[in-house]
Amino acid sequence: MSLSVIILAAGQGKRMHSELPKVLHLLAGKSLLEHVVRTAEQITKDITVVIGHQSDRVRHALAHLQVDWVLQSELLGTGHALLQALPTIKPDKRILVLYGDVPLITAETLQKFIQETPANSIGIITAILDNPHGLGRILRNENDQILEIIEEQDTNAAQRKIKEINSGIYLFPSHLLEKYLPNLKNQNKQQEFYLTDLIKYAVKERISIKSFIASNNEEILGINDRSQLAYLERCYQKRLANKFMQQGVTLADPDRFDIRGELSTGQDVFIDINVICEGRVIIGKHCHIGPHVILRNVILGDQVEIRAHSIIDGAEIAAESIIGPFARIRPGTVIAEHARVGNFVEIKNSMIGIGSKINHLSYVGDSQIGKQVNIGAGTITCNYDGINKYRTIIEDNVFIGSNTQLVAPIKIGEGATIGAGSTITKDAPPHQLTLCRTQQKTIANWKRTKKKEV
Ligand code: UD1
Ligand code: CA
Repeated sequence: MSLSVIILAAGQGKRMHSELPKVLHLLAGKSLLEHVVRTAEQITKDITVVIGHQSDRVRHALAHLQVDWVLQSELLGTGHALLQALPTIKPDKRILVLYGDVPLITAETLQKFIQETPANSIGIITAILDNPHGLGRILRNENDQILEIIEEQDTNAAQRKIKEINSGIYLFPSHLLEKYLPNLKNQNKQQEFYLTDLIKYAVKERISIKSFIASNNEEILGINDRSQLAYLERCYQKRLANKFMQQGVTLADPDRFDIRGELSTGQDVFIDINVICEGRVIIGKHCHIGPHVILRNVILGDQVEIRAHSIIDGAEIAAESIIGPFARIRPGTVIAEHARVGNFVEIKNSMIGIGSKINHLSYVGDSQIGKQVNIGAGTITCNYDGINKYRTIIEDNVFIGSNTQLVAPIKIGEGATIGAGSTITKDAPPHQLTLCRTQQKTIANWKRTKKKEV
């Protein structure tokens, strides 16, 4: 029997107290629902997602995913949600049901679960929790066979003490869904059609029910409120931190390291505390990332050093360059080998050549800077006239004196020197000193104003 996955994701998530549908809340920079879909993709291509609350928004946010969407127009419970997907199910399938708010289940666990559940049995992943509050409890008989799943709201005091809970992950032969789903009743505290009631029906007809106890509770925990979201975020980050430490990355503190996207690193990388990696980040060998750094869609060559409090976004930085502290590198920037960008320097959409230095307090935008250029403190490329943007070209071996404004479009020729404090509006020829400032003068016998006596 081949396998299809159905993900239930129609709920509003009332306990989040949010305008955003719960399954669109982000965990490690990715929506809860996308986490579940990406895991399901490792098992089958046949994935259906049931949406309802703000369905257009959910569909639009996840339009890049290859799934079939089914609408549950009235939110009448998990059983009702699965019923909406029933017409799309081909006969003789095994249906793996996942909940859109249980994001950390892994494909390895699901594979094991599928292997260990006989094809004609119903499978349920359960877990033993110290604090089972709010979750459906697993009721067993004296022979340890599952009898029923009871929702917290419907439990009595004794049942509430049961620590084995329902994860919301099930395997069903499709013919059993066809048989039982249309007959679910909503006679319970929440007046919902509970998918979990199906177990009770199956038990009556002696259908075998196989439970699979999850080895790692984080994998099966659901997110109903924001503290659970924060808890699972940290669990997930620890999982990633461990993976990178196994691969030869030193993390100053694995509890203060966040990946919100995809990271790949070479060996012997050191990452200090409170570093955030977003989007696609590639770090070469022997790099050193200082504390409080944000790397977003960045490629770093080998032995790059990013010093404290720098933000690097959409940039490529080649081997042995040193950036920061307090540098801001914006999209479209490519920095060649051995370059040096110091504190309070902003660079946007620019190429910086080999060995060039921009060490202090500068803005460089829409520029092409050659090799071994020195940009003095406080240099500003004036690239914007209020309407259009223009390029600044600075050729190899140029020296720009401090506090210079370069009004683009402009070209500074190879080997040129620009005197400090200049506002340069015309191209500067190569190998010469160009400067633009009024002559210094001294006024003799000048006196400071004195305070009036009153
Ligand atoms: C559910 C289970 C509970 C289990 C827990 C595990 C039921 C009745 N209860 O409870 O036994 O311990 O998950 O996390 O199944 N959904 C729909 N349509 C609806 C209602 C819900 O698609 O009409 C979706 C939600 O978007 C969510 C999932 O189903 O992704 C679970 O719904 P939720 O309301 O969170 O159920 P729980 O109360 O957590
Ligand atoms: Ca839930």
